[in-house]
Amino acid sequence: MDGCRLNCRQPVRTPTEQIRSGVVTRPAAVVILAAGEGKRMRSATPKVLHQVAGRSLLGHVLEAAAALDPEHVVVVVGHGREAVVAHVEEIAPWALTVVQETQSGTGHAVRIAMADLEQRGISLSDAPVVVLTGDTPLLTGATLQTLVLTHAETAARATVLTARLEDPSGYGRVIRDGAQDVQRIVEHKDASDSELRVDEVNSGMYCFAPSDLVRLLASVTTDNAQGEEYLTDVIGMLRAEASVVAACLCEESNEILGVNDRYQLAQTAAVMRDRINEQWMRAGVAILDSATTWLDVDVELEPDVTILPNTTMTGPTSISRGARIGPGTTLASCEVGENSTVIHTWAQLAVIGADSAVGPFTYLRPGTVMGKHTKAGAFVEIKNSNLGDDAKVPHLSYVGDGDIGEGSNIGAATVFCNYDGLEKHRTVVGKHVRIGSDTMLVAPVTVGDGAYTAAGSVITEDVPPGAIAIARGQQRNVLDWVLRRRPGSAAAKAAEAAHTTQEEG
Ligand code: UD1
Ligand code: MG
Repeated sequence: MDGCRLNCRQPVRTPTEQIRSGVVTRPAAVVILAAGEGKRMRSATPKVLHQVAGRSLLGHVLEAAAALDPEHVVVVVGHGREAVVAHVEEIAPWALTVVQETQSGTGHAVRIAMADLEQRGISLSDAPVVVLTGDTPLLTGATLQTLVLTHAETAARATVLTARLEDPSGYGRVIRDGAQDVQRIVEHKDASDSELRVDEVNSGMYCFAPSDLVRLLASVTTDNAQGEEYLTDVIGMLRAEASVVAACLCEESNEILGVNDRYQLAQTAAVMRDRINEQWMRAGVAILDSATTWLDVDVELEPDVTILPNTTMTGPTSISRGARIGPGTTLASCEVGENSTVIHTWAQLAVIGADSAVGPFTYLRPGTVMGKHTKAGAFVEIKNSNLGDDAKVPHLSYVGDGDIGEGSNIGAATVFCNYDGLEKHRTVVGKHVRIGSDTMLVAPVTVGDGAYTAAGSVITEDVPPGAIAIARGQQRNVLDWVLRRRPGSAAAKAAEAAHTTQEEG
């Protein structure tokens, strides 16, 4: 399985080269445990499919795993298997999936993963097998590389990734002997009072020799508080055989945090947000308020981009240098060109050219493509439309299914009337056109190059190049109507005063 990557725009950031160059051994396999239900999420969505920074929990773990360049990746699925398998096939087609029908424990899950590899006729090398859980999105490839390195350097038969936690409750505790070597792991529910005081926990991530896994998992029992096959028992069994078991302490303890409920999901998302923002700030992006700036992992920013508060960018959004985004802006899968400004805007699948201005209070819907030096101003909505270079829609307009040529100006309160109740139709506005304020362009209709429309017109027929289209009622002034019909009113008095001034003048 060469060059495994997630199918997304962002390359794996951790140095897989290190592994390829032989500094770190390529694992024979990575097994990711993801069969659990995640009851505490109280959700119809399987736990590992919940997202942090635009990527599923499982996707984050797969990305970290990919940094090890393993020969094989196996994801153990159970609850919500259809959705989880479909997701894995979509984002990481290089990974295998194996179904665990009943969740009989972590040991059982790894046992069936190993059996599945064998059934597929895959014989593993004697390189280590790395076991991970699918709900730890903060785990990095760098930490996994350290785990694999430690395993190699200590010549251990098993290496446990551990962390010291202020509140270790719920986790398995790492019990060390007098020589400080790992002796065994005891689950919270099986631990004595003195063992519960240990603050070094088992992350649930390990390196094993594959032959040990197959051999020892066959004799793991369910003789424990939860009646499950514990993978952790393998550690004690290895020590009982006098094999070396090492521990690799993860300094950044939040990397091992698993997501079990919505609160932990939000906490994890906040850590991820800070991590992503720090990375961009160090790469030359100005983020004025990191706490309210949410960038998905697939966002791409150039140096000298400025992001103002309350701004969210999702999907593969990319922003070119010098652009200012926000405040109060959401960009979903959008492109923004150099030096453009986007203020208080909601945009999705839109392309904004260089040196353009969008907002405030602008809604760009899918298919909006704006050229260079363009403008979409206040209370403007645009959908499935192209704006040529230098075209402007400055105020209060709806542009739907339109093509606006370069240099054209769409007057305030213009509506592209694209929908006849049955179908959508296109409006074509040529180059250097002046659409008067409050024009209704009833599609399908074409306004030729250099043409004008008079303010307040309802345009139902094509306008030839260079013409002005006037399509509105003729104005008629009824003189002194106010003096006759509203005598003594403030308006009448004002009119009388104006007449007197005119007469005197
Ligand atoms: C496990 C460890 C514990 C460690 C903790 C870290 C064991 C016995 N204990 O405990 O020492 O501190 O993780 O989070 O391993 N899963 C399956 N199939 C199963 C059971 C679990 O796929 O039959 C998956 C779950 O979906 C989850 C992971 O394995 O992703 C861990 O299982 P969980 O039941 O949460 O184990 P813990 O009790 O947390
Ligand atoms: Mg757990």
